[in-house]
Amino acid sequence: MDDATWSLRCVDCGASWPGLEVRYRCDCGGTLDVLHDLDALRGLPLLQTFDARRASRDRLDRSGVWRFRELVLPLDAGSVVTRPEGNTALYDSPRIAAYAGLDAMRLKHEGENPTGSFKDRGMTVGISVARRLGMTRVACASTGNTSASMAAYAAMAGMEAFVFIPDGAVAAGKLSQALAYGARTLKIAGDFDAAMDLVQQVCRAEGIYLLNSINPFRIEGQKAIAFELLQDLGWQVPDWIVLPGGNLGNSAAIGKGLSELLSLGLIDRLPRIAVIQAEGASPLVDAFRTGADLVPVPRASTIATAIRIGNPVSWRKSLRGIRAGGGTVERVTDAEILEAKAVVDAAGVGAEPASCATVAGAKKLVAAGVIPHDAFVCGILTGHVLKDADTVVGYHLGTLPGFTPLHPNAPVSVPARLDALRKAISR
Ligand code: F0G
Repeated sequence: MDDATWSLRCVDCGASWPGLEVRYRCDCGGTLDVLHDLDALRGLPLLQTFDARRASRDRLDRSGVWRFRELVLPLDAGSVVTRPEGNTALYDSPRIAAYAGLDAMRLKHEGENPTGSFKDRGMTVGISVARRLGMTRVACASTGNTSASMAAYAAMAGMEAFVFIPDGAVAAGKLSQALAYGARTLKIAGDFDAAMDLVQQVCRAEGIYLLNSINPFRIEGQKAIAFELLQDLGWQVPDWIVLPGGNLGNSAAIGKGLSELLSLGLIDRLPRIAVIQAEGASPLVDAFRTGADLVPVPRASTIATAIRIGNPVSWRKSLRGIRAGGGTVERVTDAEILEAKAVVDAAGVGAEPASCATVAGAKKLVAAGVIPHDAFVCGILTGHVLKDADTVVGYHLGTLPGFTPLHPNAPVSVPARLDALRKAISR
């Protein structure tokens, strides 16, 4: 590791540390950024290098994270644990665009990552740093996807994994991944915010490496969503990037990555970032509108369990990126999320509920005139459709409490006879 090319810096007070160490916060309590020495990178033909690596067979080049390693983390190749991640599809679905009221909408499907969510991009960096630091035990609090990802990467790296999950509030697909990959799974009687608080205490007391997105190296890997999206677009800058927000690591990362590209002169303007939260878990909307510090929402609630978070860790970093490009923050109801999901799914793309806040939010912002119908809009779908099969089946059977589906597609029972089947098909 060439420590000279980056340092850790406090987002609040600017204090800094020169190299790799086990540290997640400043002494003042602020969260940390990895600050790259961009001057050392200026003038290098980075975009050409990134494009050339797309055709390479090299283990690192094949990863949609490590391909951009100069802007992620210049870590020695031997420490890197990669599946490889990224290389996700960018869909262009006229049906989804029409639903959102847009002429076109491109959707980067991060559910196509190795463990089925965008979390793998940050996790490959987090676990690789853990290995470089000689850590043997890692932990995270999670609404499900971070724990699934961490469990898999820890298993590959031969580390012991501990996941802290809110009891009864994690979709079955995600819980089953944590169990399958062998993580010690601790169900906490409380919500994600309580689990997040506890995991930090346990990691401190036990010397376990914390792999939530408060870990600044996770954010560095997460930035690669923006890099790969722009690479997919031939380095053309979209007008808007729309994505869901929970703990706000992802929006923070995308904002940071874009700002770095701009300051290196690799792009000539910033896209606007629109972060979409579920109505019952939307503290960032208020912080954005009032300009005041974020006020946590106690007992956050939404059917999109992935983003059921009332006290997001990375809110300050997230707002920084949103404001830099003139973006916005919006909230959508569970009904809006589920109807958008039915459209995303029926288009053949498919994604988990939280992901579909992206499409619901874009629709709302177009209707409000914030996003023009002919804008160049890219959305991020964060998780795979199979992560939360119970919600899919519940929607189509009409059994989700307090919710009547507009596009149900319930299965029908048919006697095992040709005539009965022909009759069922002709209906
Ligand atoms: N979409 C999905 C599918 C998620 O799993 C998450 C977060 C988000 C969106 C929100 O991203 O937190 O960076 O703002 N899931 C975390 C977890 C909290 O534990 O898996 P964020």
